[in-house]
Formats: sequence, C-alpha cells, structure tokens
Amino acid sequence: MKPTLLALSLALTALGTLAKTALPTSSSQLAAPADDSLYQAFGQKEGIRTLMVDFNADARLQPFFKDGDTEPLVTQLTNQLCQEAGGPCVYKGATMKPIHAGMEIRREDFNALVDVLQDAMKAKGIAFAAQNCMLARRAPMHRDIVNR
Ligand code: HEM
Repeated sequence: MKPTLLALSLALTALGTLAKTALPTSSSQLAAPADDSLYQAFGQKEGIRTLMVDFNADARLQPFFKDGDTEPLVTQLTNQLCQEAGGPCVYKGATMKPIHAGMEIRREDFNALVDVLQDAMKAKGIAFAAQNCMLARRAPMHRDIVNR
C-alpha cells in the first residue's frame, strides 16, 4: 500500500469506528454529503461511470472479478459511488455484507482494490481532496467486506 494511503487508511479506520451508526450498508455507512460538490468533482454520473469502466478494466482486479460481462457491476458501482458523492442516483444493488460473504476477502485484497481506485481517480485528474473524501466514504465498508 502507498504510504499516503496507509496513513489515510489508519486515520479512516479510526474515523470509521466513530462513524459506525445504524445507517444502511447498501452503500456507505456514512450519512449523505451535505451538498453535491463531491459529485461535481467526480464529473457527475458520466465521470463516475468512465472512472468505474477504467477501474474494472485494471489488470490488478482480474483475480477478483472474473471474465464476463462487467457492465452490470459497472452500473452498480456507478450508482453506489454517485449516491455516495451526493449525486441524484439511488443504489439498488445488494448490501455489502451478503454479496461479499464467502469470497474470503482479506484486508490486503481490500487495500489492493483501494490502490486501483486511487490510481484510476488520479489518472482522471480528480482533485486530491475529492479523492480522499471518496476514499473516506468507502473505508468504513471494510467491516462488511473483509471477512477473512
Ligand atoms: C470498497 C470496497 C468494495 C466495494 C465498495 C464493493 C462494492 C461492490 C458492489 C456495489 C457490488 C455489486 C453488488 C450487486 O451486484 O448488487 C460488488 C460485487 C462484487 N464484489 Fe465488491 N466491493 C468492494 C470490495 C471487493 C473486494 C475487495 C472484492 C474481492 C477481493 C470484491 C469482489 C466482488 C465480486 C466478485 C462481486 C460480484 C458478485 C456477483 O456478482 O456475484 N469486492 N462489490
């Protein structure tokens, strides 16, 4: 893991513990953002979609996401990120815990996926503060995804 990300991840683990509430786990466990500035920083829904297409195409994800039609997953991830960013989308996919149950996901797997997302955001020129804000919204999900 990259050093900056390691520091962030440690801070976020603490933040995530504080932020654990009774909010639904179908998306982030954090409350919706106060405004849509994060959504705008990500280039709205189209920006998020192209980000997710690039993210899914990264060779580092191949061991996790097998070949096949990636479009349904891209759509779910796009709606999830869009909603988390304060955009006008509603994520209607599975809740994180059951969909990832039985996949034997380790903390290293989760961190590897965060690295891919970070690189994809950087390649799109998304502002660093916005990148960190999005990572902060996803970090608490590790509690429902890491299961080994
Ligand atoms: C921040 C971390 C993660 C997030 C936000 C996330 C989010 C999601 C979402 C939204 C879906 C689609 C759910 C649906 O179709 O209803 C999904 C599916 C999936 N995730 Fe994750 N995921 C994360 C981490 C991981 C990791 C670390 C792995 C594997 C190492 C993984 C493996 C999978 C697989 C294989 C599917 C497809 C399941 C299926 O279609 O049957 N995910 N994930």
